[in-house]
Amino acid sequence: MRFVGEIAEIQQRLTRSREFADRRHTVLQELAPRRGERIVEVGCGAGLLLREIGISLGPHGLALGLDISPDQIATAAKECAGVPAVVPQVGDLLAIDQPDGVFDAAVAVQVIEYVEAAEAAVSEIRRILKPGGRFVCLATNWDTAVWHGVPRALTAEITAAWESHAPWPNLPAVLAPMLARRGFRVTRQIPVPVVNPSWHPDSFAWGTAHLMAAHAVESGVSETVAHDWLDALEKAEAAEEFFFSSLPIMTTAIAG
Ligand SMILES: C[S@@+](CC[C@H](N)C(=O)[O-])C[C@H]1O[C@@H](n2cnc3c(N)ncnc32)[C@H](O)[C@@H]1O
Repeated sequence: MRFVGEIAEIQQRLTRSREFADRRHTVLQELAPRRGERIVEVGCGAGLLLREIGISLGPHGLALGLDISPDQIATAAKECAGVPAVVPQVGDLLAIDQPDGVFDAAVAVQVIEYVEAAEAAVSEIRRILKPGGRFVCLATNWDTAVWHGVPRALTAEITAAWESHAPWPNLPAVLAPMLARRGFRVTRQIPVPVVNPSWHPDSFAWGTAHLMAAHAVESGVSETVAHDWLDALEKAEAAEEFFFSSLPIMTTAIAG
């Protein structure tokens, strides 16, 4: 999935949901940025977390925000305007234009699963971290998503298509050994659950469902099926039968 155009717009709306705000808080606590540090956020998207990291670092720190999508970086640059530590940059996390061992910490929120060469991405992040540098990586095990209140057959078509939205749709399940192979010591993996008992345009579930429907159509599912699924979710909400949950996992590791 490429986060440009309409897909970037939906994803950016999603990041402004209450659930994303909670998640940012959790990730920020784990990352624990200290004044003057140099931190890189790979796949920074719309830059909401990047802004908070930059503020925590103060004017003498560096919060480098990398994203391969110019649309995302344009939004991140606006979001972070006026925060001196923040530098948003278009770039590929597989080839970060930085010397070895210069960052105190790195963070990736729902990013590594989109990179086919995920293990090479982990290596590249290790390369730019100082020994002892922190890496916080949040990703979802998509097999844990529950969409309740809609016909199961419709959901099955959409979720089957969603399998291909990222090369690693259940990244947390394989991440710890991958990190260990690439020079990290994993310190913990904890759940950061999302629960949406209602469906509305500012909810995590709404944004995610619209990304899923768009991806399903791109993957060959008919527009009618995608439309019917979104419509069924709307009706489930009206009937007070809607429920969504998913189970992202936050993994923390230290560069050896
Ligand atoms: C699901 S979005 C998450 C954005 C943001 N971290 C958030 O939580 O809102 C994934 C992001 O990773 C970026 N991305 C994917 N592959 C990348 C790569 N190879 N290098 C840099 N960024 C990449 C995408 O452009 C997109 O903005």
